[in-house]
Amino acid sequence: MSDKKYILSIDQGTTSSRAIVFDTNGISLTKAQQEFPQIYPNDGWVEHDPETIWSSTLAVSREALREANAKGAEVVTIGITNQRETTIVWDRVTGKPVYNAIVWQDRRTADFCSELKAAGHEELVTARTGLLLDPYFSATKVAWILDNVEGARTRAEKGELAFGTVDSFLLWHLTGGKVHATDVTNASRTMIFDIHKLTWDKELLALFNIPASVLPEVKDSAASFGQTAPEVFGYPIPVEGIAGDQQAASFGQTCFEPGAIKSTYGTGCFVLLNTGDKPLASKNRLLTTIGYRVKGQTSYALEGAIFVSGAAVQWLRDGLKIIQSASETEALASSLSDNKGVYLVPAFTGLGAPYWDPHARGAIFGLTRDSGPAEIVRATLEAVCYQTRDLFQAMADDGLTPKELRVDGGMVTNDWLLQFLADTLDLSVDRPEVSETTALGAAYLAGLQHGIYKSLEDIRQNWHLQKRFTPDMPAAVRDHNLAGWDLAIQRTRQK
Ligand code: G3P
Repeated sequence: MSDKKYILSIDQGTTSSRAIVFDTNGISLTKAQQEFPQIYPNDGWVEHDPETIWSSTLAVSREALREANAKGAEVVTIGITNQRETTIVWDRVTGKPVYNAIVWQDRRTADFCSELKAAGHEELVTARTGLLLDPYFSATKVAWILDNVEGARTRAEKGELAFGTVDSFLLWHLTGGKVHATDVTNASRTMIFDIHKLTWDKELLALFNIPASVLPEVKDSAASFGQTAPEVFGYPIPVEGIAGDQQAASFGQTCFEPGAIKSTYGTGCFVLLNTGDKPLASKNRLLTTIGYRVKGQTSYALEGAIFVSGAAVQWLRDGLKIIQSASETEALASSLSDNKGVYLVPAFTGLGAPYWDPHARGAIFGLTRDSGPAEIVRATLEAVCYQTRDLFQAMADDGLTPKELRVDGGMVTNDWLLQFLADTLDLSVDRPEVSETTALGAAYLAGLQHGIYKSLEDIRQNWHLQKRFTPDMPAAVRDHNLAGWDLAIQRTRQK
């Protein structure tokens, strides 16, 4: 029998489904990816077809496995990581979703959240879940489906329907409908999970009017989640790691010590700071969340969530059509010596941390007759950095001042962006050799459970720096830029 061991990592993101086969040193051997359609049925609504989520995930997983040319039992374990909060409700018998997946960016429940906030419920929500009353999280999306799909609530109460975040839906399909489970990191984004007791919270279930019968079982991030059904990959493979994509990225970046921090630039931008085994409550509207739970130990994180970063570049490409590919943005931004006073606030789906304004919408300020694609592209990239700085400011106001930042995600191949980020934060920015940290984190979790890695220390050995960006901008320039940004944010919110 071969002694080769590979790990299949499934990364189901907001705009694409990906699969990567890793070796045990964390080196990616094969990759497959499929983009899938975004559905915008109404202003502020964002949906995905759950069948497409599953079919694209299955297709890319099979492709990556085929290309790895792995024989039978060489792929020993599977890790799943996923876009978080996105909500699916399906029939327990047929597996058919009763409605499209309501995506994390969707704002349709903004008024419901405002009503609950006005009625004074946010304090309880934050105390139990570490979150804020915002449509971003799953709870109000589940309630919306149960209230708006004919017969759904009655069927849910009879135990006929299952709710899950994307990991849970994929696990259900991978195991041929046998397992309905999730992990603590995904559960911690639903707004009905007590992050202290690690249980579903009865009071919050009552508040959001969600029957407990729809809920998945919650396990550690490294755990035995079940075996894939034989027809899925030809032979059963255990699923042994699950984490929401931002937590997985943090794990892949080996942010295991309190104080370690990473920022991922994908569709949105998410900064996670490890705060150790105690949840730390922010006074500045950052989120408290579960970073991971392995070997019975919970590690908490403080999170800043920005809804739009790479999505704004996608908009430049597909909406405005002023670029043909994201890689053009680096040359366009660096063709200008400064931003010419142009600021773009990408509040396409409201503003996340630290503003939490679901009603804000995007805007461009400071346009003049000679403004062109370069100015708009540069303003888009700068906005990613300014939004990150807003999160660091909130952390600083909470008394936390990280020493350096690890970055990953699709946008970090852009050197100009990372230099501007280091300059704006006045902090060193480190790009690792393996940029696929999200998928890698899920692979590490599965590998840990499978016994490929003995400890977190074992995993840490695999992290290597590819390039460090050190701040090199005069303070006066930074201050001037930030003053312009702060004004743009204020104006966006004066509606
Ligand atoms: O909370 C939403 C987040 O998980 C989405 O991540 O990588 O699809 O932008 P991404």
